[in-house]
Amino acid sequence: MKIEFFRHGINDEDIERANKVLKSIFLTNAHVTEEFERKFAEYLGIRHCVAVNSCTAALHLSLLALGIGEDDEVITTPLSFVATANAILHAGARPVFIDVEKETGNIDVAKIEEKITGKTKAIIPVHLYGNMTDIKRIRKIADKYNLKVIEDSAHCIEGMREDIRPGELSDSACFSFYATKNITSGEGGAIVCHDKELAEKFYMLRLHGIDKDASSRYTKRYSHWDMKLLGFKYNISDIQSALLIGQLERIEDNLARREEIAFFYEREFDRLGIDYIKVPKNTKSARHLFAVLVNNRDEVLVKLQKAGIGVAVNYRPIHLHTYYKDTFGYKDGDFPIAEYIGERTISLPLYPGLTDKETEYIVNTLKNIAK
Ligand SMILES: Cc1ncc(COP(=O)(O)O)c(C=O)c1O
Repeated sequence: MKIEFFRHGINDEDIERANKVLKSIFLTNAHVTEEFERKFAEYLGIRHCVAVNSCTAALHLSLLALGIGEDDEVITTPLSFVATANAILHAGARPVFIDVEKETGNIDVAKIEEKITGKTKAIIPVHLYGNMTDIKRIRKIADKYNLKVIEDSAHCIEGMREDIRPGELSDSACFSFYATKNITSGEGGAIVCHDKELAEKFYMLRLHGIDKDASSRYTKRYSHWDMKLLGFKYNISDIQSALLIGQLERIEDNLARREEIAFFYEREFDRLGIDYIKVPKNTKSARHLFAVLVNNRDEVLVKLQKAGIGVAVNYRPIHLHTYYKDTFGYKDGDFPIAEYIGERTISLPLYPGLTDKETEYIVNTLKNIAK
C-alpha cells in the first residue's frame, strides 16, 4: 500500500474558480482575494482579514505593525516550525523560548511570567497540531505586563478553546495555506485582527507600504500612488485566493472526517499503549496533525516509510537547530520537554481523503513495528 503523508482536497469546482481567474485580465490580488478575505473573516467572526503569501509573512508583518523590533524580546515556544522564531529575528527582536506541556506540546503558560523582562514586548503562542493554547490565560498575562499577543495559528483555523476562537483575544492571528495545511493554495497566508487601523497598516505593508493596491492602480481612473511605509512584497494572488474559497466552504465537513480518523487513532493507540499528543480539555481541535510519541523514533519512521506510509516530524525543537545553537548558544537540555517530544514525535497521515482501509493499515503497521 502507498499512503501519502498528505493529499490535498482541491476539487474540480476549486480548479474552475482558479481557471476563471486565469482567463481574466487580473491575476494578482484583486476582487477574488477580497472575497476570500471577507469570507475568512466572517468564518472566524473577526472584523478584518488581510491575505498574504505565507504565515511567515503574516507573523513578520504582525510584529512590525505592532511596533516590535530592535532590542525587544518576544516570548514563544521552541516546539514549532522555525518560521515562528525566524519571524521574530526578521523583525530585529529576540525570541525567548518557554518549555512546553508534556501532554499537548503547547507552550507551558505557567512558565511565561518568570521569563518576562523590561524588554519583553509580545507573546507568540503556537496552536500546535490544531490545539489551541490556553489563550485566555495568555491574554491575562499580556494585559498585566502590557504585552501584545500574536497567535501563530498556522495549524488551527477551525479550533476553539473554552469557546474562544483564533483571533478573538489576540492583537492579531496568523494563518498558513501552505501545501499540507487544512486549506491550501500551495503557498499562502492570512492575518486577522479587530483593529481597523492595524488592518490598514497590514494592507500597506504587504505591498511595499504603497497606499493603493495593484488592481486599483490599473483598473480605476489613474491617480498617483504614494509609498507611506517601508513594506514588503508579501501579497497573495487571486489565483491562490480562488483555490481557497471553496475549501473554506467545506472546512467544517472536512473537520468532521478529520475528527473521525483522529478518534479512531486515539481509540486504537489507547488500546495498544502507544503514546500520542493529547487534545486539551474544553478544546475543539482543528485536527491538523496527529502525532504519536515513540522510542527509537528514527527507526520506527524508516520502517513506516518502508511500509509505504508517509510521515513527518513536527518538530525537532528550534533551539537545537545549528543556526540557533551557533547564534544564541543553546544546547541539549535547555528545554527538556520540547526535546522529549522532539525526539519521539512522528506525524501520521491525517486528512479527509484517507480511507478506513488506509487508517487500519497505518494502525496495524505501527502496532507490528512497536511490538
Ligand atoms: C507552526 C507554524 N508556524 C508557521 C509556519 C509558516 O507557515 P508558511 O509556510 O505559510 O510561512 C508553519 C508552516 O508550516 C507552521 O507549521
